[in-house]
Amino acid sequence: MPTNRATLELFAALDRSRPEPLRAQLEDAICAAITGGGLPPGTRLPASRSLAESLHVSRGVVSEAYAQIAAEGWIEVRHGAAPVVRAVPANIKRDSPSLCSVVAEAPRLDLTATAPDLSAFPRRAWAAALRKVLAEMPDAALDYGDPRGDDELRTELAAYLVRVRGAAASPEDLVITSGYTQGLWLACRALKRRGATRVAVEDPSLDDAWGTIRSAGLEVVGVPVDEHGIDPSRLDADAVLVTPAHQFPTGAVLSPERRRALLAWGGIVLEDDYDSEYRYDRAPVGTLQRLAPDRVVYLGTTSKTLAPALRLGWLLAPKDLTEAIAQERWAVDSGGPAINARAYARLIATGEVDRHLRRTRREYRERRDLLVEALTRQLPSCTVDGVAAGLHLLLRLPPGTDEDAVVRRLAERRIRVNGLNTYRLAPKDEPALVIGYGRLSKPAIAGAVDQLELTV
Ligand SMILES: Cc1ncc(COP(=O)(O)O)c(C=O)c1O
Repeated sequence: MPTNRATLELFAALDRSRPEPLRAQLEDAICAAITGGGLPPGTRLPASRSLAESLHVSRGVVSEAYAQIAAEGWIEVRHGAAPVVRAVPANIKRDSPSLCSVVAEAPRLDLTATAPDLSAFPRRAWAAALRKVLAEMPDAALDYGDPRGDDELRTELAAYLVRVRGAAASPEDLVITSGYTQGLWLACRALKRRGATRVAVEDPSLDDAWGTIRSAGLEVVGVPVDEHGIDPSRLDADAVLVTPAHQFPTGAVLSPERRRALLAWGGIVLEDDYDSEYRYDRAPVGTLQRLAPDRVVYLGTTSKTLAPALRLGWLLAPKDLTEAIAQERWAVDSGGPAINARAYARLIATGEVDRHLRRTRREYRERRDLLVEALTRQLPSCTVDGVAAGLHLLLRLPPGTDEDAVVRRLAERRIRVNGLNTYRLAPKDEPALVIGYGRLSKPAIAGAVDQLELTV
């Protein structure tokens, strides 16, 4: 039963001597009550007028606080009705020492650069595709299958990667994986079998990937990245993992000279093409794989376009590596889940993937424009970088800023964001925040930038 708002007492210690506006303090107090279990899902909150009276603040303070936390997904506000507390999902922290620990306090705003907008997942289209697939799939297709993954998806995906990414793809060279992460691990295992010992990574780069490489038994060495991407002349390894189309997390594009140098280098290139679907105001950057299919392992994922929970990715390997990779896949889990794979094949074949990308590209572009505009206006001492593509940007803080302290202060306000040093093997004194806008709805952007302005 929803709690009756007429009798609901709400504690909020608002302190006018604190630098944070009363509105922000009230937002914090309500969110703390929600995460602390004091306001369970379904609770009706007081009308803005009565809460304003009981807290001795103006009604505008309460309405603005309600609007902000509604935009962040904490409560639901419907015209003419009392706001209602929504169910706050438990958050699994990606970078926690214990991977499965549940964060006690859910962040009010999650600006980490990992997930896309999960509310955009095309549930109806996915459900329809699954229904169709289950109705049509012959019994034999429910058996163990090809270690490279479902043949229908490999066929659809090969054509899709040729069309959309200009890749040199054929169904035989594709392996469907459980996300990019498994693809990277499988490729590393296959390389280790061939005698590889060291994999170079961009510094900075996705920290999770370092653990994946190490767990495949290989050493990780960092190579610095500048505004032109990684410098291949500094490579001393058997293979290198790169994000050439949109360097993670700096947003740099690998320059033409360095692309050439990388392709001329003798080792294997692991090309992480994690977010190339989201490109806004720059020409498409082709894949390295297309130029050297015999030396590049191309890795893709649905984690940025659809949802990480699908655990659906792929790799395109040089012919002499595909068999070893398929064997590793078989050893790990006797092949991948064919039902989901076939549903995704159907979404590609029916044009649903293209439609979804067009919709979400427009949405992310609008978010990016609003975010960049607000950051440039409200934080003029910072520089915004890496905005031409993807779902995140880099906010460079004024020299001398203590990056860790900024991240900590934001965490105290329950704003989750990573500093650039999170992604560096060799930390540097070049303070910056990596700000993801996948989970930042348009109405929540103004409040997020206000919080950054107050903290930086
Ligand atoms: C640089 C980079 N590569 C790849 C991925 C996707 O990994 P996966 O497909 O294993 O979810 C991510 C997700 O955050 C990423 O940031």
